[in-house]
Amino acid sequence: MKPSDAYFEEALRYIPWGTQTNAKRPLPFFSDTMPKFIVRGKGCRIWDMEGKEYIDYRLALGPVTLGYCYDEVDAAVREQMSKGVLFSMASPIELELAKKICAIVPNADMVRFMKTGEDANSCNVRIARAYTKRDMILTSGYHGYPDWFAAEESPANGVPQFMREYVRPIPWGNCEAAEKLIRQYGERLACVVAIGYDFNENTSGDFLRLLRNLTKEYGALLVLDEVLTGFRLAPGGAQQYYGVDADLAGYAKALANGYPISAYCGRRECMEMLNTFKITTTYAGETLSMAAAIATLDCMVREKVHEHIWAMGRRLMDGFNRIAAELGVAGHAAGLPPASWLRFEHADPAYPPRLEYLWHRELYREGIFINPRWFISYSHRASDIDETLEKARRALGRALDAEPKERDDVKPFWW
Ligand SMILES: Cc1ncc(COP(=O)(O)O)c(C=O)c1O
Repeated sequence: MKPSDAYFEEALRYIPWGTQTNAKRPLPFFSDTMPKFIVRGKGCRIWDMEGKEYIDYRLALGPVTLGYCYDEVDAAVREQMSKGVLFSMASPIELELAKKICAIVPNADMVRFMKTGEDANSCNVRIARAYTKRDMILTSGYHGYPDWFAAEESPANGVPQFMREYVRPIPWGNCEAAEKLIRQYGERLACVVAIGYDFNENTSGDFLRLLRNLTKEYGALLVLDEVLTGFRLAPGGAQQYYGVDADLAGYAKALANGYPISAYCGRRECMEMLNTFKITTTYAGETLSMAAAIATLDCMVREKVHEHIWAMGRRLMDGFNRIAAELGVAGHAAGLPPASWLRFEHADPAYPPRLEYLWHRELYREGIFINPRWFISYSHRASDIDETLEKARRALGRALDAEPKERDDVKPFWW
C-alpha cells in the first residue's frame, strides 16, 4: 500500500467520495497506476504524493489552458492580493474584465460573473425563462448538477419530481431527435441549452446550426454551454469556431488558468433582463480570479496561444496515427487537436474499450496523465509531445501484449 492509498482511505472517512469532483474519484480499474492525489504542478507537468512526475493531458479537467503555475497569471494574482480580495462595493477590475470578454466572445454585448460552470448555465437558464416567459427547456450534453439538469434521476438525487416536466435531454449530435423535441415543445420552449461540441467524432457543427435555426423558428433562445469549449477550441469557443450565434453563452474552464471564475454573457436585450430580477451572490466579484482571467486573456490574445495549442494537438494526432500504423492496430486519431484521442476499431465492439483501458493503465505507469480526451495547454512543447508519444507507444505495446491474457478482468470504460 502506498502512503497515498492510506491517505485516501482516511479521506473517505471525512469527505464523501474522498473528493469534491466526480471525475477526480480514483477509478478502481486503474488503482495500480493512477495517482489518487496531485500535490504540485508546473507547466504541463504534475507530481503525485509519492513524487512521481506526469506529463498532464487532463489539465485539472480543462481549466489550465496556459500551464500550471503560469508566472504571468500568478504575478497578476499576487499583485491584486496585495490590494485585497473582495470589497464592500464593486471593484473597477470587473469592468476591465467585462470589456475584454465582450471583445473576445462573439455575441457578448454584456457579461456577468459567477464562480462555476454550473452557475453560469443556471443563470442563463433563468434569463431565458424570464425573457421568453416560458418554462420548458431542452438540454444537450453535461451541464453540471443543477435541478434543471439532474431531473432525470429524480427523486433519488434530491431533485423534486415535478422538475421532470420542465426538461428533456437531446442526445448531443442527434439532429433527428433535436428536431422532433423542439417541434414537440415548440412555443412552450424557453431555450435549448447545448454544449458546443461533445469531444466525439462529429466535429461538423451541423447540430449547433440546426439548434440555432429551430430555436429561432419557435422564439426560443439558444444557450450555449461553452464551459469546456470556451477559450479552448478558439478564444471565443464554439461560437467562434463554428460561426454559430448563441443568444446566451456560459464560460468557465480555461478562462482564468484554473482560478475559479465563470462568465455568462450574450445579447443585450437578454442580459438586460438581469435589471428586472435578482441574481446576486457575495463572491462573484472576487478580484483574484478576475486578475487571473485578465492576465490569461491578455496572454491568449498577445501570444496567439490557440495557434500553439492546435499545432501541438496536430503533432499529437499525427503521432497517434503513426503509433497505430507501426503497431498494426486498427485505429486513428479522432476529434479536434485541442482535445483529441486515439480511437481503436475492431469487429468486436468490446475490444476498443478493453484496449483503451489497458493502454490508459499503462500510460499512467509511464507517467502520462490522461483524460479520455487529451487536452493540450500552451505549456506543452514539441519535446513534451514527442516524449509523450514515445511513452504512449511503449504503453500501447504492453497493452496489446496484455489484452488477450486480461480479457476477462477488464471492466467497462468511463466517459
Ligand atoms: C460542458 C460542461 N458544462 C458544465 C460543467 C459544470 O461546470 P462546473 O463543474 O464548473 O460547475 C462542466 C464540467 O465539467 C462541463 O464540462
